[in-house]
Amino acid sequence: MRSRPPQHGRTLEVFVSDRRVGILSESPETGLVDFDYEAEVNPDFAVSLTMPVVAEHDAYHEFNGLPPPFEICLPEGLLLDLIRARFAKHVEIDDDLSLLHLIGRHTVGRVTFGGPLAPDEELDARILEAARSDQSAQALLDILSTLPERFGISGVMPKMSGGPRQTRPGTLVREKFIVKFDTHQYAGASLIEHACLQACERAGLNGAHSTLAPDARSIRVRRFDLAQDGTRLGFEDACALSGLRRTGKYSGSVEHLVRMIRHYGDLSYQREDLEMLLRAIVMNDVLRNGDAHLKNFGLLYGCIERARLAPIYDVLTTQIWLPRDTPALSLRMSDEDKRWLDKAGMEDLVDLTGLWEIDVGRIRDEMAEIAVSTMQAIAKDHPPDAGPHARALHEAIAVVERAAVSARP
Ligand SMILES: Nc1ncnc2c1ncn2[C@@H]1O[C@H](COP(=O)(O)OP(=O)(O)OP(=O)(O)O)[C@@H](O)[C@H]1O
Ligand SMILES: [Mg+2]
Repeated sequence: MRSRPPQHGRTLEVFVSDRRVGILSESPETGLVDFDYEAEVNPDFAVSLTMPVVAEHDAYHEFNGLPPPFEICLPEGLLLDLIRARFAKHVEIDDDLSLLHLIGRHTVGRVTFGGPLAPDEELDARILEAARSDQSAQALLDILSTLPERFGISGVMPKMSGGPRQTRPGTLVREKFIVKFDTHQYAGASLIEHACLQACERAGLNGAHSTLAPDARSIRVRRFDLAQDGTRLGFEDACALSGLRRTGKYSGSVEHLVRMIRHYGDLSYQREDLEMLLRAIVMNDVLRNGDAHLKNFGLLYGCIERARLAPIYDVLTTQIWLPRDTPALSLRMSDEDKRWLDKAGMEDLVDLTGLWEIDVGRIRDEMAEIAVSTMQAIAKDHPPDAGPHARALHEAIAVVERAAVSARP
């Protein structure tokens, strides 16, 4: 990653819910990065489930790059390109510590870098107005292009975080959201993701709630890392929780996700979360989502002993753009290939989760029925002649209909 030799002993303060808890520092000699907690940090203010507050002074030393949990908010895709175009002269964008320095006060979850969260209600309100307009994709792109450094969000699709202005102190922070919008290359991505997320919700999956813009070129997905009273919750993706760098997001397996729940999940809800995970994997399969990688699952927590599987997000039929797309994850760590679920795959999924009492074939039929009917209902408002985005949704329905029958005996 690093293209220039390390500068002199750079440091960056780390905050959890606006309290300073520690410091990241880079060794000028080796370029390795250490994280040190301050003295007497409350264990509830751990920076990650994988990095509890401990007394040993060198417990989190000598990372080659950032510790994986600090990578989850690093921009990718269009957002990173926009940051590069604007800041490359001043900031070393390919250096993760510099990038974190730039965006670190605008992250998702409860950890921020360089200072407490820096809310900007006026910007949030502008984003909301753009997201509600009938030229939403262009209006959102205009905002993102001028202020890309304000969005510490990963993912390759163009997106940003926003929400309604808080009218008076104490007003509940409701409906803060992440906005995702179409580009020419992926026309229809927003409409299809909206339909897929609605299908997840209808199927009883804990799916992030999505609202479609008037022009159907963007969606607002309600943020799940903010509680009703505005408290920020801990959120970590399965890539970081598996100890993998963000570039390893496709190198994982469903087994990693199961282990994540068994290792860090609230003991009283593990069975429930494993079943939710199984259903989500089956739904992603039916929807032919080839992008359900390790950064698209995670755990959410108010306090660290109570981590639960986060709501399902980033679900869409990728086979529209990549007709031969395969799943993003293999089933087991030892599997060499990645295949859509056939009968044997479904049995293996049951074995992996240990949910032997479950009729996975029935769940698959149920998911397929809900997926197709939900997408068809949404497609009624978007006939194929409405534009490329609507045509993409109709193609997605055909893909899902084919997938629905594919694993039947
Ligand atoms: N509803 C939400 N609430 C809080 N955080 C979210 C929500 N949706 C997404 N995120 C965070 O933002 C990141 C990017 O979102 P998302 O995965 O939807 O984008 P994407 O660009 O489609 O990603 P990918 O690169 O996987 O295609 C997620 O990995 C997660 O960390
Ligand atoms: Mg994603």
